[in-house]
Parts: sequence; C-alpha cells; structure tokens
Amino acid sequence: MNVVVKSIAPHQVSTPLLVLPLPSREDVPAELTRLDDRLGGLLADVRQRGDFRGREDETLLLYPPAGTIGAERLLLVGCGTAARPDPERVRRVAGTASKQASKLRTGAFALLLPEGSGEAEARAAAEGAVLGAYTFAELKACDDGDRPGEVSEATLLTPAAVHEAVRAGKILGGAENLARRLGNLPPNVCTPSYLGDAARQIASAHGLTCTVLGREQLQAEGMGALLAVAQGTEQEPQLIVLEHRGGRVGDAPLVLVGKAITFDAGGISIKPAASMEDMKFDMCGGAAVLGAMSAVGQLKPPVNVIGVVPASENLLGGAAMRPGDILTSHLGKTIEVVNTDAEGRLILADALSYIRRFEPAACLDAATLTGACVIALGHQASGAMGNDTALLEDVRAAGERAGQRVWPLPMYDEYREQLKSDYADIKNTGGRPAGAITAAWFLRDFVGDFPWVHLDIAGTAWGDGKLPYHTKGATGVPTRLFVEWVLGRAS
Ligand code: BES
Ligand code: MN
Ligand code: ZN
Repeated sequence: MNVVVKSIAPHQVSTPLLVLPLPSREDVPAELTRLDDRLGGLLADVRQRGDFRGREDETLLLYPPAGTIGAERLLLVGCGTAARPDPERVRRVAGTASKQASKLRTGAFALLLPEGSGEAEARAAAEGAVLGAYTFAELKACDDGDRPGEVSEATLLTPAAVHEAVRAGKILGGAENLARRLGNLPPNVCTPSYLGDAARQIASAHGLTCTVLGREQLQAEGMGALLAVAQGTEQEPQLIVLEHRGGRVGDAPLVLVGKAITFDAGGISIKPAASMEDMKFDMCGGAAVLGAMSAVGQLKPPVNVIGVVPASENLLGGAAMRPGDILTSHLGKTIEVVNTDAEGRLILADALSYIRRFEPAACLDAATLTGACVIALGHQASGAMGNDTALLEDVRAAGERAGQRVWPLPMYDEYREQLKSDYADIKNTGGRPAGAITAAWFLRDFVGDFPWVHLDIAGTAWGDGKLPYHTKGATGVPTRLFVEWVLGRAS
C-alpha cells in the first residue's frame, strides 16, 4: 500500500472516501467548519439528531450532495471522549478506514489527521492503514464473491511535516503483516525450513546477514534441548540468525529471540483435540522476530541488532522424547522432561544459551509459552518477566508507545523451587501454580550475564480480530514493540 501525505483542506481533496475522526462532543470541530459549510450543515445536523455520537470505533457513512466537496463518500469515525486522540486511537481509526475502503472497494481513501497531530500520530496512522488493509486469502482457491477489495493508496491529510514518520509507519505495518502472514499460514506449509527460507529472503531484500543451522550443525553445537523437541517429527529443526550491523564493529548488539514451534501437538504429553489447530500459532514469537528484523533492515538504525529464531515442530513420532527423559542442554545443564508439552522453554533455553557468544547489550524474547499467562492477563497484555528492572520498564514503555501492552509478573526467588528435579539440574515444568512465572524462571537458568526480558504472548499473539486494525488470526504481536524498543535504544 502506498501512503502519502498532503496538506490540503478536507473539502478540497478529491477522493472516493474521505475519513473524518470525530470526538463525542456535540459541536462540529473547528477544522471542519469550512467543510460543513460546503455540505450545508450536514455534519451539524447529524450530530444534532444524535445518529452519530462519536463513541469509540462508531462509524457512519454519508454521501455528500453532488458538487459540494471533492469526496465521493464521507466516513465519520468516533474517537470517544479524549480531548485529543492518542496514537493508538489514530491507529484504530486508520484501521477502520482501510477496512471500510476494502469493503466498499474504493481502492483508496483520504484520512484527516486530528488537529495537533505530530510524528507519533502520523506514524500510527500509516501503521493502522497498512495493518487494516491486511487479509489472508492466499489459500482460498475459489472466489465466493465477497472477497475484500484491495486498498492501494491512503492519503493522510495534515499540515505537519511527517514524511519520515509516515515512511517508518508504512515499514512497520508491512513488517507486522509479514509476521501475521507467517502466523496464519498452516503448519503443513509453514514448517521450520519454510521459516528458514523466509529469513533468507528477508535478509537478501534488506541487506541483513542470515545464517541457518540445520540438524547436523545443531548436533555439532550440542543443542540437546532443541534437538530433543525435534526428535518426534520428520521436519528438520532450524536455528535462524539474522544480523543487522548498523552500529560500530564491536558494539554490543541488541538481541531478539522468538519461539517458533510450527505446530505444537504437545508431544507424547499430547494436547486435547479441541482447538488443537490453533497450535499453528505457536511460532508467532519467531514470526515477530522475523518481522521486526525486516523493519530493522529497512529503517537501518545505527545499532547492532541480531534476531534469533529456534524452530521445530512438536509431534509424537516413534523417536519422540518421553516424559522422564533427561536432556543435556547447549549450556551443559541437564533437564528432566516432566511434560513434553513444555517444549517452548526447551528450544528457547538452547537459543538463549547460544546467544552468549554475541555478548548482548540486552535481550528480549517473545514466546507463546504458557496457557497460564492467558489465565493471568487474558488477551489485553503480554506477560513481561526478566532479570533487570530498568529493562523491564523500557520494554513496558515501548509497548505503550507501540500500542502493544505488556504487564510485569513477579519473579520472586521462591518460585524457582518449583523447578527442582530429583534427577537432573532442573525439570521442565513447575506444576500449575504461577505457570507463566515458573516458565520464565526456567528460561532464566539459561540466560547469560546480560539484561533480559521475556514476553509471554500466549494471550496476545492471535485473536478474534475485534480491533479495527486486526483480522481473525495472528496479530503480529510484538513486532511493533520490538522495533520501538530498538529505535529507542538507537537514539
Ligand atoms: N504453546 C503452548 C502454550 C499455549 C497454550 C499457548 C495455549 C497459547 C494457548 C505451550 O507449549 C504449552 O503447551 N505449555 C503448557 C505448559 C505446561 C505443560 C507446563 C501449558 O501452558 O499448558
Ligand atoms: Mn506445548
Ligand atoms: Zn508450545
């Protein structure tokens, strides 16, 4: 999608669809009085009748009388009671605009940015426009007649000089759509080697270095935990490494790690059948790392960034790992497998151990790690846990700015005791109490001496598509948070 900025008045813009964000106040905002004059007071009339109250995400489609303004259609979008829409509100309005343009098959729209909008709002608008235009229809072979139309251009109306912000927003939206596509692809298509190929393509398109380790190299590295998970499947496991060298040689890199289980059947500790198909989304952490690295490759911040994605399938073939098995991890610590369905922490343990060689300045990981995190926080925030309070606060703030919220869960030392094993250095589950936290404590045992934050995205990585810029399926979380954090560290 092309996103352009124009600084002309809303009544002058020639467009098939003009989108106007409106607060839930009764009067017509000052910046719209000229437009409403041309419309013969249509907006004031609509407000007076109470047909459109400006509530959040409320919409009303109007057809201006011929010859009055340059737009063929008007879409009013409610912004609620806030004095000034914040970037997330603007992102949602832009998402609504794209979805409506797609439904009406207008191919393009113009969106008036709220008075006083600056770079953050313009970037959010570009993100929302690109995200709202996303659909996943590539595997539908038959046209059932209601396939959504493509939206090829969004025009943002604002007097502000925001071209760079809009460019960044467009890149971020595209990167997150890339992550959503990988998430939505079925597990027979999106295998670990498919992700490896996707990483190579991202690298060659955007000037990153890509290394992919396969089974033999993982054996040579001694990645016993990742390999144990891959024992139950025919799919070859992969360790994907993408590098952006934007900083000075020798500068400690920022490292992003993402869990990519391309399908999680649970292994021998098999999951129940109900909704098991959703376990294709168990690679969304890895997808967000690939998406974020594609944005980093395009935005080229002056900092070194490395993305690492351990990828495997978790099935239950004849060679599968068993409950009771004791594994030797990459770090050398031994792990008693109590439940083969706690596989994400096994592949992440080896990845977190592997990245010590980069001497990270800091590391974030994202994983659809525990059902317990969904119970704790629902779908409104990812769980955040780590070994450094300053980094935790940075990540929380980056999530707030990016519109991808995270909320901290405590890592009291006492929780670690739930992972004590009678036979090995650690066991891979700590029982039901505080399941999200004991999973994080497991990871922490394999993290080197650097600041690290783990994001449990089990409740946020996919959803019902209720947000205006979402669709049912993968959300792309936390692609925008990752990039926001990297950009914050680079400036
Ligand atoms: N991928 C799942 C976690 C998950 C569950 C994500 C539901 C999203 C929705 C993970 O591999 C898993 O199975 N975790 C187990 C851990 C348990 C065996 C300690 C869980 O949460 O039940
Ligand atoms: Mn599992
Ligand atoms: Zn899993």
